[in-house]
Amino acid sequence: MIRLCDYRAPAWRVETVELDFDLGIDASELRSRLRLRRDPAQDAPLRLDGENLQLLSISLDGVPLPATAYRYAGNVLEVDGAHDGSVLETRVRLRPAANTALEGLYLSGSREAGFLLTQCEAEGFRHITFFPDRPDVLSSYTVTLRADRERFPVLLAGGNPDGAGELEGGRHWARFVDPHPKPSYLFALVAGRLEVLERDYVTADGRAVQLKIWAEADAIDRCHYAMDALERSMRWDEQAYGRNYDLDVFHVVATHDFNMGAMENKGLNIFNAKCLLADPDSTTDDEYRHVEAVVAHEYFHNWSGNRVTCRDWFQLSLKEGLTVFREQSFSADMNSAPLKRIEDVSLLRRAQFPEDAGPLAHPVRPAQYSEINNFYTATVYEKGSELVRMLAGALGQDGFRRGMDRYFERNDGRAATIEDFLAALGEANGTDLTPYLAWYGQAGTPRLKAHGQYDAAAHTYTLSLGQRAPGGNGAEARPPLPIPVKLALFTRHGDMLPLHLDGQTSGSSNEMVVVLDQAERDFVFTNVVTAPVPSLLRGFSAPVVLECDYAPDELALLLAHDIDGFNRWEAGQQLAARAYENLRDGNASDALLAWCDALASLFGNATIDDALLADLLTPPGEVELAERESAIDPQRIHQLRQELQQRLAARLGADALRQRYAALAAHTSIALDAVSQARRRLKRRVLELLALLDRDGAAELAAAQFRDAPGMTDRLAALSVLVRGGAPQASTALLEYRARHAGDALALDKWFAVQAQLPGEPALERVQLLERDDAFTLKNPNRVQSLLGAFVRNNPSGFHRIDGAGYRLLAERLVSLDALNPQVAARLATAFNGWQRLESRRREAARTVIVELAAHRGLSRNLAEIIGSVLNH
Ligand code: ARG
Ligand code: ZN
Repeated sequence: MIRLCDYRAPAWRVETVELDFDLGIDASELRSRLRLRRDPAQDAPLRLDGENLQLLSISLDGVPLPATAYRYAGNVLEVDGAHDGSVLETRVRLRPAANTALEGLYLSGSREAGFLLTQCEAEGFRHITFFPDRPDVLSSYTVTLRADRERFPVLLAGGNPDGAGELEGGRHWARFVDPHPKPSYLFALVAGRLEVLERDYVTADGRAVQLKIWAEADAIDRCHYAMDALERSMRWDEQAYGRNYDLDVFHVVATHDFNMGAMENKGLNIFNAKCLLADPDSTTDDEYRHVEAVVAHEYFHNWSGNRVTCRDWFQLSLKEGLTVFREQSFSADMNSAPLKRIEDVSLLRRAQFPEDAGPLAHPVRPAQYSEINNFYTATVYEKGSELVRMLAGALGQDGFRRGMDRYFERNDGRAATIEDFLAALGEANGTDLTPYLAWYGQAGTPRLKAHGQYDAAAHTYTLSLGQRAPGGNGAEARPPLPIPVKLALFTRHGDMLPLHLDGQTSGSSNEMVVVLDQAERDFVFTNVVTAPVPSLLRGFSAPVVLECDYAPDELALLLAHDIDGFNRWEAGQQLAARAYENLRDGNASDALLAWCDALASLFGNATIDDALLADLLTPPGEVELAERESAIDPQRIHQLRQELQQRLAARLGADALRQRYAALAAHTSIALDAVSQARRRLKRRVLELLALLDRDGAAELAAAQFRDAPGMTDRLAALSVLVRGGAPQASTALLEYRARHAGDALALDKWFAVQAQLPGEPALERVQLLERDDAFTLKNPNRVQSLLGAFVRNNPSGFHRIDGAGYRLLAERLVSLDALNPQVAARLATAFNGWQRLESRRREAARTVIVELAAHRGLSRNLAEIIGSVLNH
């Protein structure tokens, strides 16, 4: 176990790194020359990380070392006799084609046609060469690649190009020098047959940059959208943060074989193809926005991550939370801000809240880990972003910019900590932000309790806020967190009231932020002329669960009138959740009536944005609803949610739904503008609702939509309606889709995923059938995600079978997968999170399977850590 409190500065640093690669598919050789610097204050022997390396030769200061002068064991190379300024030279042999873990140097695609690439974050560099593989060792890199010209026409590494040429025997070479010292996790190389899309770019500070996106020949035409997104990201970072790109060339490469979304290697970003390639025939609107977001995210890392990096991996959120926040702000500017907020908060609730409530819970800055790859989590990323958002809110737009300028200026070229971040933001604004540090150190989602009291005689409104730390035992001892609550007060007619807090006015504003920094506090608003309805936590101003005793008609009022698009949606979500609980408990439901009535009137309102309306018409998902249960029965939750939607559909009426569908379907287009995207989104939602009232009619419409769809968004929506509804047309549609997209891995992934999300008992058999499909393989992470990931994560009613067959399937696949790719296995295994809260039969079935898995010998550290935590908590 690695602990934050054990951090020590490195005893040895590396000033310069020279790497010479001799590349081949089966075997690659690498000569490394490291110029070492010793910390005079420490006297530890030279120890370098290295995993599974075949050491061919080693010399120190030009002298070959005898076997007695070094020891390589337990993934550490210890070398005697090094001193400050020594040069260590090693040669190793690597086996890229045999590397199925996709960490270090590996082959993407086939031996004949594929290409070589690397993935180093977090600790992949030690699979390439011996090195102090930790982010606080920053070095200057010179990288030379040599390879057969015919097999590897393109040779890329991070940094600026520094020469290239021919060698004997049909070979060639290329050299790259990176002027910016960097940690080893940002090293990258790519070699093979790739096509390029190029664009010239001039930064705001006048640097001419060549933007080059590389992909295999069949994919290069699908890189135009990413190129546009890259250019938008670069401009935006110049304007919003004053950050310019800092090399002469910026490479981006797409691969189908990648463990996560993408990687910000300095000057050579590498992307999972699904986060980069886009064209209307194979990419949905949601995926287009995702491509834009990931391109931006990786680009923004050039400053928040690369120029300023992390001292150690406990600080991971320093770069990830901050970069997610920067991406979210960018996407909000490029698209609709309220829709982006709804999307991000939905993700937080679907992925992070359950993580934070179960055995895998950890603080945004974890205190310990066994395998760091297990900590690239929704907590570190998404909750981390929410923490930055609170800080940005506390400082205001100008103050945050001032603080960020200070942060970049003071930490440029450094490996920093979260304290450094808070200090820079605070000092630039003359404020102390250290109270926010507590957010980084504790796991769990805090509860915010709100209660309002109106005094009609005194015209005062007292808002009592209280916070409760999550997690019961010992949690009481935790100090209160600063919780910013953005709020407004509405009249019963839906108008906003001017705010006067304790006599002081908030200017002319009718929205303000109060910060609850104690366990409980009353906020007294004066001159409140009528009993108000509070709109609290607007824009989701803090990552908490709000508990407020709203009456259904108050939520309906906010749903109808709140001008904060997020809170309007949120009011609808709260109302729907109440309705769900009433249905579950067999109680009469004012909430259900209020929810349906409010939505029916919005449905007829022509001024509301189609995309927002689509979101308003969607109740909380099954995973979110499960968070409200003490004994989870996923199939019952699915049924209740269906019933809830059916009631809504009935209230809207089949005729109105059909008419709306027809009106929306009259615009067939593949245009990506907001209005066209919004129409497609609403059209899908309307069709889904109609399917709950008129199965056959909706299936006919879906079949026609599938046939005539001009692009993937409409096609996939129709296919999903057919498959989920068990429509007779589904099997033909699946065959057609399959034939049409046969050569397109990303489209095929969606074909698998749609079927893996078939609700209820039949899903498992379908998944087992699909596992036998020629196109299925455990070796490709995207394919694994699309079938097994979609099943265990996005299909609770299918996965959580009462007979435990879903759990057994997952456990069996985890064992096979772990032997190939531990990172992907560990991520899939997190689907067992929350098993303790299942109802008793499922819980017992899950326990049996997990206990057995935990006892399995030879599990990777990745998988063992996840299974161990899930079991022992
Ligand atoms: N830094 C990358 C990104 O967020 C993700 C790298 C994930 N690495 C890993 N081993 N899980 O952009
Ligand atoms: Zn990132």
